[in-house]
Amino acid sequence: TGKVTFDPGFANTANTTSAITFIDGDEGILRYRGYSIEELTEKSTFTEVAYLLMYGELPTAEQLTAFEDRLRVHTILKEDMRRFFDAFPYDAHPMPMISAAINAMSTFYQDSLSVDDDEAIDLSSIRMLAKMPALAALAHRKVTGMPVVYPDNKLGLVENFLRLNFGFPAEEYELDPLMVKAMDQLLILHADHEQNCSTSTVRLVGSSQANIYQSIAAGVNALSGPLHGGANSAVLDMLDDLLESGQTPEQFMERVKNKEKGVRLMGFGHRVYKNYDPRAAIIKKTAHEILDKMGKADARLDLARRLEEIALADDYFVERKLYPNVDFYTGLIYKAMGFPTNMFTVLFAVGRLPGWIAQWREMINDPATKIGRPRQIYTGASLRSYVPIAER
Ligand code: CMC
Repeated sequence: TGKVTFDPGFANTANTTSAITFIDGDEGILRYRGYSIEELTEKSTFTEVAYLLMYGELPTAEQLTAFEDRLRVHTILKEDMRRFFDAFPYDAHPMPMISAAINAMSTFYQDSLSVDDDEAIDLSSIRMLAKMPALAALAHRKVTGMPVVYPDNKLGLVENFLRLNFGFPAEEYELDPLMVKAMDQLLILHADHEQNCSTSTVRLVGSSQANIYQSIAAGVNALSGPLHGGANSAVLDMLDDLLESGQTPEQFMERVKNKEKGVRLMGFGHRVYKNYDPRAAIIKKTAHEILDKMGKADARLDLARRLEEIALADDYFVERKLYPNVDFYTGLIYKAMGFPTNMFTVLFAVGRLPGWIAQWREMINDPATKIGRPRQIYTGASLRSYVPIAER
């Protein structure tokens, strides 16, 4: 096999250089373009962070207004595009609806498909960012059977997103500043995470020069799995099942440690973080604040804290350096906000979109980019002669 190295899951292989996101997994540090996640969640907004990721710098007030104005022009979905959702079964999972819809954007917006034209790339990026809240909310309305709401362009992206999801009747919807702040914070925390499974997928698909919509649709699919973004809903399901089953947290943790088939402590562990995930630290605090202020005591929060407590004091988890990751506490906040569990991973996708866009743009503009094409180590049969069917 010559120079080919065997590296399952690319655990030790860098496929790219990148100037977007920095992670120090041993120290539990996460920065976008040099800014700490702690500072960004406290002082910034999701729209500003999207700009930062895509263009490399925080916007000036003027740049931000221009960016918001550009987004506003593109919030509405073409009616044919909206009707796309009519055909999905109401009880289907919303994630494939979202990836199908983003993929379909390459059929509705054919003027922005070129991978060589910076203006086309910028237009497609703005279109996706502007329409994603409406797409996500459409999926939400579809699975809950609620009537469709159209974007209100007097509102900013996050405010609009909340109204699109929860406005009923939409005209009377009153924005709760606490919800806006929490949603902003959650979206910022998900906005990028360097070369994770979905982002690597976006880059890999894009490396063949497939257009940005197709590449990002592939990323949405990669995010769906329970080992990646799907973990946020898997955590809630785990907590619900546990409460229903009457098992004690201790009994459940024994099953986890015994590696019973299909039993993992969801929301724990990370390929890169061998320390507390800094996103989880911020979210844990928000989960408390939100549930307190909304007066929504949730037995699931106590259970999650108990599971964390057991894990952090147990050799199995300590030796393997398994800590809560971003997905451990987010679901509790989404639930308190009123989202159904199967929408959680869609919310992750709404947050991650600016990161995927920024990473795709970096990939396409990098002269060092080559088509992604991993090698293999062949373990099959050596040359055999063909046996006619009658003699097999
Ligand atoms: N519960 C119990 N054991 C675990 C867990 C867990 N959540 N995570 C890892 N382990 C064990 C694993 O069995 C292995 O043990 P051993 O050394 O005895 O074979 C060891 O820890 C190393 O795990 P790994 O599976 O080799 O690690 P990885 O880097 O390939 O996987 C992971 C990382 C995130 C997929 C994994 O930790 C996991 O499945 N966690 C649960 C799912 C989850 O929460 N995913 C969200 C990740 S963060 C946000 C995101 O990406 O969306």
